[in-house]
Amino acid sequence: MKPACIFDLDGVIVDTAKYHYLAWKRLANSLGFDFTEHDNEQLKGVSRIESLKLILRLGGKQLSELEFDAALIRKNGWYLEYIQQIGPGEILPGAAEFLRSVREYGMRVALGSASKNAVLILERIQLLDQFDAIVDGNKVSKAKPDPEVFLKAAEELGVQAEDCIVFEDAVAGVQAARNAAMKVVGIGSEAVLQQAHFVVPNFMGLRIENVLARFS
Ligand code: G6P
Ligand code: MG
Repeated sequence: MKPACIFDLDGVIVDTAKYHYLAWKRLANSLGFDFTEHDNEQLKGVSRIESLKLILRLGGKQLSELEFDAALIRKNGWYLEYIQQIGPGEILPGAAEFLRSVREYGMRVALGSASKNAVLILERIQLLDQFDAIVDGNKVSKAKPDPEVFLKAAEELGVQAEDCIVFEDAVAGVQAARNAAMKVVGIGSEAVLQQAHFVVPNFMGLRIENVLARFS
């Protein structure tokens, strides 16, 4: 069977990772502590709820259940504010072309993202029609590094886990793909994404044939 590709969204297809960071930083600051870009690496790919738990641990802060829920709503409100203007211009370099080449090659494509805002973002950047299956934060209950999101994507595509190639920018996402026994291409820094099978800085100039050759 032809392998299929599963793409993470934030930081892989679209440049929203910076807006998640800004919104979390704003929340941390409002709670009286700072939150650095270095700390943010741990949050990439991690669900909204798990991210807040991690931030509170980093800041040594405890919230009541009500305050916790209110903080989640505030963060998402800010995030939605930041991405209000988002459009195809924020698609990461080479990502749309790579996606198109994968489809032209005859491979099936799924989204595997922890984000509950995934469909909204795909609509805004006009890539929604490029996916055969979309598994997002509304469809899963376990956060990456749990493999649930990618296993569900494989199931929706009707392919075996071992026939899937995942594209991920986050440590937790790379681990999730590994935990699903899938192949994984890291998008970003080799130093950070050491558990990926291989890492590219971005999709510029990347061809699906080269990716397949690496795994053959
Ligand atoms: C992605 C991002 C995370 C984000 C998560 C939930 O995986 O990498 O930074 O926390 O999705 O996103 P949401 O849009 O539902 O808050
Ligand atoms: Mg990501």
